[in-house]
Amino acid sequence: MNSESKITPSSTNSSSSKTAVSGPAEQQPIIQTFSLRKTYRTGFWMNKTVTSLQQCSVQVMPGETFGLLGPNGAGKTTLLKILLGLAKPSAGRGFLLGKPLGDRSAKQYIGYLPENAYFYDYLTGWEFLKYAAGLFQIPEKVQKRRIPELLDLVGLDRKAAKKKQMRRYSKGMLQRVGMAQALINDPKLVFLDEPMSGLDPMGRYQMREIILSLKEQGKTVFFNSHVLSDVEVICDRVAILALGELICEGTLDQLLGAKTQKYQVKGRGGKPQALANLLIDFEMQAEQWHGQLQANPQQFLSSLEQMGGTLVEMKMVRQSLEDFFIQQLRQRGIHKSR
Ligand SMILES: Nc1ncnc2c1ncn2[C@@H]1O[C@H](COP(=O)(O)OP(=O)(O)O)[C@@H](O)[C@H]1O
Ligand SMILES: [Mg+2]
Repeated sequence: MNSESKITPSSTNSSSSKTAVSGPAEQQPIIQTFSLRKTYRTGFWMNKTVTSLQQCSVQVMPGETFGLLGPNGAGKTTLLKILLGLAKPSAGRGFLLGKPLGDRSAKQYIGYLPENAYFYDYLTGWEFLKYAAGLFQIPEKVQKRRIPELLDLVGLDRKAAKKKQMRRYSKGMLQRVGMAQALINDPKLVFLDEPMSGLDPMGRYQMREIILSLKEQGKTVFFNSHVLSDVEVICDRVAILALGELICEGTLDQLLGAKTQKYQVKGRGGKPQALANLLIDFEMQAEQWHGQLQANPQQFLSSLEQMGGTLVEMKMVRQSLEDFFIQQLRQRGIHKSR
């Protein structure tokens, strides 16, 4: 299969994004970069340089929800702009939907919600979406159906979208219009730069639900965030970027799983002395005891049985992504953002 045939206009067939994840194309990464580097010239005389990204190699498969994490100034937006063809890498190369980065033909299959998007204040949300649809040359008939559908998806009142100018929108409403705009061309691949930023808890929850619904539709979502809890709930795979370098990458299970598996155990009976040797932070409270197990749970259960104890509860406590993130940054002596 040549790279041309991997791209099928999803705007004419909304189910085609689903086929993208189940066809032979699923073997091919939808995003792949090799040692990307970006250096900016700065300072009054443009005589200083800042390296925003170095040795950045990432791979995202179709249908994946990929979260790029990192403190402020880590280079997340820089990477996203390079992927979108909005900035040129100083070195390295990459492919998007089988095309070299910057190739215009890939653009119609991509959606983008920028960080701190600037919208046209005097347009209504509806007018803005029509304008965005026009840029993709989406036929009037399709627009008529898609705009209200998208407004419903992002949870923006149709009346408000038609009547209110965007200068009167709250941050949450603007973010929703931004999301609708990012989806106007029914993209296969959606880039979201800090989509939860500035939203209240309800707004974050709704944004999360929207991203999950995109995932259900088989779309590939690449998003930048420094809000770890959001990433933890939504992403199949994450990468951590710090000072322009990818310091680790993998599924949450790979990053937080096996090595750090611990079990919180509660029970009754048995021999307190022996249990205290098996459990960390062993504590008795009335009839019950609890503690943390780091050894093999099977072994623990058979020891407990032998000493005549009963298990009340055993649950896995995984290291949170936040703990992992801080630990990774500390190990590399990176505590501060740029
Ligand atoms: N156009 C630019 N000119 C000079 N420096 C820039 C430019 N864009 C980004 N940078 C610098 O590159 C680094 C990474 O920025 P950015 O990609 O925006 O990080 P993030 O999105 O992770 O917060 C920062 O030090 C930032 O100041
Ligand atoms: Mg950014």
